[in-house]
Amino acid sequence: MPKERISRIVVLTGAGISAESGIPVFRGADGLWQGHRVEDVATAEAVAFNRPVVNDFFNKRRREVEKVAPNSAHRALVEWEQACGDDFLLVTQNIDPLHERAGSHNLIHMHGELQRIRCDSCGESAPFFADALAQTLCPVCGRAGGLRPDVVLFGEMPMRMEEVFMALSACDLFVAIGTSGAVYPAAGFVDLANQAGAYTVEINAAETERSPTFHERLTGRAGEVVPDFVASCFKL
Ligand code: OAD
Repeated sequence: MPKERISRIVVLTGAGISAESGIPVFRGADGLWQGHRVEDVATAEAVAFNRPVVNDFFNKRRREVEKVAPNSAHRALVEWEQACGDDFLLVTQNIDPLHERAGSHNLIHMHGELQRIRCDSCGESAPFFADALAQTLCPVCGRAGGLRPDVVLFGEMPMRMEEVFMALSACDLFVAIGTSGAVYPAAGFVDLANQAGAYTVEINAAETERSPTFHERLTGRAGEVVPDFVASCFKL
């Protein structure tokens, strides 16, 4: 880690940060995509042709996050944000609500949120904590049949990318936590941060496709490594 003062920070998180809270990651032996064909449950085409299957998959995910609690990695990022204020941006690929449950505010859910629903009839999105069924009414327009999860499916554009790219182009520290680097554009954030002259750090339980691109790699479970790493940044 460079000794000069770090002032603008962007942190990217992926499924690995929530693994110790009990939410399965996407890839790997017990991963969420095992047993599911992505094209059946997580694409725009699946919504068009088989909406109940998509809603059913995400209804299950929504139920899974009802009672899960943030872990020490989520909490360390809250402390970091509190110390840095607006100079700290947290971008998550996760659709679970654990960052906000821990207390993060300056947060972008680039792949959407499980606890929101979108309506293809009125185009609006709203907080949502139940199951979306064929007869469920849109909380905004009151019509049935058009609900879908307010998450980014394969083939759709991630959310709020302009804000993320602006922050990356101006940051001096970029940290990627618990993400496999298999899905773009998030997998390319490290390249943008490197181009901006930032110091880049990867925290992951295992090596990833993007590991060689980072200045520093910290191997281990997020719940252990992230609190220590954040504490070391406070001492700079
Ligand atoms: P993945 O499932 O692809 O990768 C999870 C990463 O977390 C892996 O690199 C693991 O090594 C790491 N990991 C697992 N447990 C960990 C722990 N306790 N501490 C630290 N690291 C750990 O999940 P993502 O990279 O988040 O997108 O996946 C990216 C996107 O692919 C998701 O947002 C989702 C998915 O398809 C959409 O659905 C649009």
